[in-house]
Amino acid sequence: MLVGPLEIRRQGGALIITIQREERRNSLDLATLQAFGEVFRHHLRAEDRAVVVSGSGTRAFCAGADLKERKEMSLDQVRAQLSSYRTELGWLSTCAVPTIAAINGAALGGGLELALLCDLRVAAPEASFALPETSLGIIPAAGGTQLLPRVVGPAKAREMILLGTRIDAAEALRIGLVHRVAPQAPVLEDTLRWITPITAGAPLAQRAALRSLRAAERLDLDAGLEFELACYEACLTSEDRLEALAAFAEKRPAVFKGR
Ligand code: COA
Repeated sequence: MLVGPLEIRRQGGALIITIQREERRNSLDLATLQAFGEVFRHHLRAEDRAVVVSGSGTRAFCAGADLKERKEMSLDQVRAQLSSYRTELGWLSTCAVPTIAAINGAALGGGLELALLCDLRVAAPEASFALPETSLGIIPAAGGTQLLPRVVGPAKAREMILLGTRIDAAEALRIGLVHRVAPQAPVLEDTLRWITPITAGAPLAQRAALRSLRAAERLDLDAGLEFELACYEACLTSEDRLEALAAFAEKRPAVFKGR
């Protein structure tokens, strides 16, 4: 079904969101940003085990802000739009299940920031990546200056942001910007196969691990270790934990129920 300019469908336990604005290279206008929020607020179901984001066509995953829309905006409208990036795309880094970018082409500016908000990134061999904002007289402010250094380290982030360097999928893999380059198209199918351990795994454990991993980015080590224990506790009393032990003893695959 369509939610504004986003198509959503389900496959293999994942909710798949595809930006359907190929004619503008899947760039983000206000309607698209708002549609992201609507998907997470109203369409994500308890049984969805992962969220995969991709773009339509083969040219672009997402070309960043819709520069044609931006050109017509007042200063206050631009400010409001930036705030929408935080609120509407922010769901990708806070929702209960892992989020994965299946990067089918260029991920530029806000498009790369969209991918950086996801927990995992898979690239098509022809994908490319850049934060060219300074060449447009602005900075990457949908999280770019904060998230990129955390993912690729401060040195590479400075290079990509200050020089606006565009890199290819092989380089993105080398510097850890993406986790995987799909050996062959389509990247979405490859991504769905690759995340099977998530979609077929123990739901409570997946969610607890994700909560703890995300907390590691904002807590110091002592607080983080405390938080990790609380996340472990959430799994300890689950039926799934007992099922995994029984399945191991009986030499059979576990059947997880998310309880
Ligand atoms: N906002 C609005 N429209 C965009 C867009 C954007 N960010 N990026 C591309 N488009 C539009 C083009 O204006 C063009 O429209 P037209 O047919 O009316 O002229 C159409 O999409 C196709 O663009 P084109 O450049 O011909 O496609 P391509 O496949 O050769 O290249 C990109 C794709 C994404 C590499 C290239 O369009 C590009 O570099 N876009 C700008 C990215 C950018 O700087 N983003 C902002 C970061 S802050």
